[in-house]
Amino acid sequence: MTTIPSTMLGATLPGDSSAILKTFDVPTPGHGQVLLKTKASTICGSDIRCIYHQHLGKGPEGYQGFIAGHEPCGQIVATGPGCRRFGDGDRVIVYHISGCGVCNDCRRGYMISCTSQRYRKAYGWQRDGGMAEYLLADEKDLVALPDQLSYVDGAQVACGFGTVYEGLEKVGISGNDAVLITGLGPVGLATAMLCKAMGADQVIGIDVIDQRLQIAADLQLCDHVLKADPQNVQQVRDLTNGHGVERAIDCSAHHEARATAIRATRKWGSIVMIGEGGTVAFNPSPDIIHDQKTIHGSWVTSIWKMEELVERIVRWNIRPEQLVTHRFALADVDKAYALMATGQCGKVAVCFDEALA
Ligand SMILES: NC(=O)c1ccc[n+]([C@@H]2O[C@H](COP(=O)([O-])OP(=O)(O)OC[C@H]3O[C@@H](n4cnc5c(N)ncnc54)[C@H](O)[C@@H]3O)[C@@H](O)[C@H]2O)c1
Ligand SMILES: [Zn+2]
Ligand SMILES: [Zn+2]
Repeated sequence: MTTIPSTMLGATLPGDSSAILKTFDVPTPGHGQVLLKTKASTICGSDIRCIYHQHLGKGPEGYQGFIAGHEPCGQIVATGPGCRRFGDGDRVIVYHISGCGVCNDCRRGYMISCTSQRYRKAYGWQRDGGMAEYLLADEKDLVALPDQLSYVDGAQVACGFGTVYEGLEKVGISGNDAVLITGLGPVGLATAMLCKAMGADQVIGIDVIDQRLQIAADLQLCDHVLKADPQNVQQVRDLTNGHGVERAIDCSAHHEARATAIRATRKWGSIVMIGEGGTVAFNPSPDIIHDQKTIHGSWVTSIWKMEELVERIVRWNIRPEQLVTHRFALADVDKAYALMATGQCGKVAVCFDEALA
């Protein structure tokens, strides 16, 4: 049994393109809470978009100066009174938003859209997150990490793969489908990995960054990768016998890429918007109405679907950690955020103990 120290290091994001380490007290779990020894904590595009350069987020994306990191995975080292399922030694993923538990969205398992202004708190935004040696979590927010998966796999389920799975379940993916993914950041790469696992017939990816196109090609996640270009719609049609794709997933948030996703989708097809922020311009009649297309929006996922996804990841024998191109110790957390902000990487992880090796 390791002794738990009284203080720990944790990183905050002051909003000036830096990450700073400070000393915090190690929290004591209260009723229904656990203390995790953090093992892996990955960086999401939203951390860069809303917090790192400037504190731009509002409401649920409003960062309130807490320890950063909303993709944590770790091992329970202390359990407060009243815990019902999890205990010391358990390896767990944290659903990254703690909800009130009693609003309609929480009752559906979508704590992401919990309507309680007082009780909804996202880890790494409005309560302490994973960029620290220890993390205080509510037991109700935990998902068990199976033995077959590593902590780095688990960290990515938290926001990235869970979000993607929800979006793909909304449109349905099968062997009938050619799929276009616009934006091959970690979320787009996760989309490609899950589309392949779900049997998609053909996966086409688009990005502006050569390194990300290369990662998608090297890991054989995409059958075709295209550099972002005004000709993309025609190129996608050329790859699909002139039809366009059955399913398109935007993971870029870029207005041109979103328009490409809509226009490169064939008649009766579906598009899902995952990339956040920005805008898009399209002409409803020719672009969607006359071609009978459907556009979905998708925000994170429910905790039961996250649990289901973890089971499927094991069954499909896929490893989210393949997307991690760089692992940093907490001491180098500033380098980890700076690298993610350049986009010259796959997923970036801050790791501890055995996950750093
Ligand atoms: N909906 C949700 O619940 C949810 C959850 C997590 C993340 N997100 C959002 O998903 C997006 C992706 O997250 P990420 O971690 O992969 O971030 P990221 O910023 O690393 O990825 C975005 C990618 O889009 C690419 N891109 C930019 N312009 C493009 C263009 N014109 N054509 C094609 N590609 C282009 C970028 O080069 C980059 O690789 C972000 O906007 C993030 O905030 C949404
Ligand atoms: Zn996220
Ligand atoms: Zn709620």
